[in-house]
Amino acid sequence: MNVLEFEQVVVGYDRDPVLPALDLTLAAGSFLGVVGPNGSGKTTLVRTMLGLLPPLSGHLRFPNRRRPRFGYVPQRESVDVSFPLTALEIVLMGRYGLLGPGRRAGRVDCERARAALAEVGSSDLCDRLYHTLSGGQRQRVLVARALTGDPEILVLDEPTTGMDLPSERSLLDLVASFTSRNMAIIMVSHQLGAVSDYARWLVLVPGRNIPVIVGSREQILTSERLTEIYGHPIAVRSVDGHAVIFVEHECDAGSALASDRPRTGA
Ligand SMILES: Nc1ncnc2c1ncn2[C@@H]1O[C@H](COP(=O)(O)OP(=O)(O)OP(=O)(O)O)[C@@H](O)[C@H]1O
Ligand SMILES: [Mg+2]
Repeated sequence: MNVLEFEQVVVGYDRDPVLPALDLTLAAGSFLGVVGPNGSGKTTLVRTMLGLLPPLSGHLRFPNRRRPRFGYVPQRESVDVSFPLTALEIVLMGRYGLLGPGRRAGRVDCERARAALAEVGSSDLCDRLYHTLSGGQRQRVLVARALTGDPEILVLDEPTTGMDLPSERSLLDLVASFTSRNMAIIMVSHQLGAVSDYARWLVLVPGRNIPVIVGSREQILTSERLTEIYGHPIAVRSVDGHAVIFVEHECDAGSALASDRPRTGA
């Protein structure tokens, strides 16, 4: 069953479109990856899904006849760390949407926040000041904050930026496990290989004012398509059933597909 549908939605700011009209559906329990170059419109797109930005035209439909509960893990640099809040206080913020205006968080909310921290394996961070945490620890706290609102759709915008590989995999495994309770996941990521391990379907945002392409990971992640969109030679290989993306080094000349050159894997 679909939980969200875009019908000819144009996203942008004020009257300035960022992307042409787009159709999109999101099913309960699905994992959708959103990929594309910097500045192409990925965050603008997911903020429109979340209702934080109004569409410039078109319709956002909720087939359940009500707005689903959203959880949002924003791009890390957009979180204000100037207040001396503990990890638990940050997680409690995720309850505010359920509390209603003027109501203060109570015992049940604190228990839910502690349970969410435990779920992301970070109970030990409870009383630590958020701004003293490492990047990876902060990301887990932000996922816990998103979980406390019991989301039906969880939106994560580049959640693994700056994380080491085991931490990245463990966070993505955790997020993917939420689909078994029918939560839909939308994840923006520049880690093309990693995102394709989890998302069967990808939304490719090729560039500002260029039509978005929606397709299976096999359709989206091809050498030709990525080379064209990123304007740089990129090769996609399948290794043990996983997509591995090779980027040609700037100093190399010739084909991106030659296999005897040093490469950067993503
Ligand atoms: N608040 C804003 N007002 C006006 N234009 C904006 C605003 N935020 C972003 N933009 C513009 O919208 C376009 C898309 O930005 P967006 O943040 O959606 O890109 P992105 O794909 O998420 O990039 P990145 O990978 O760097 O996070 C860019 O041209 C950006 O300058
Ligand atoms: Mg962004």
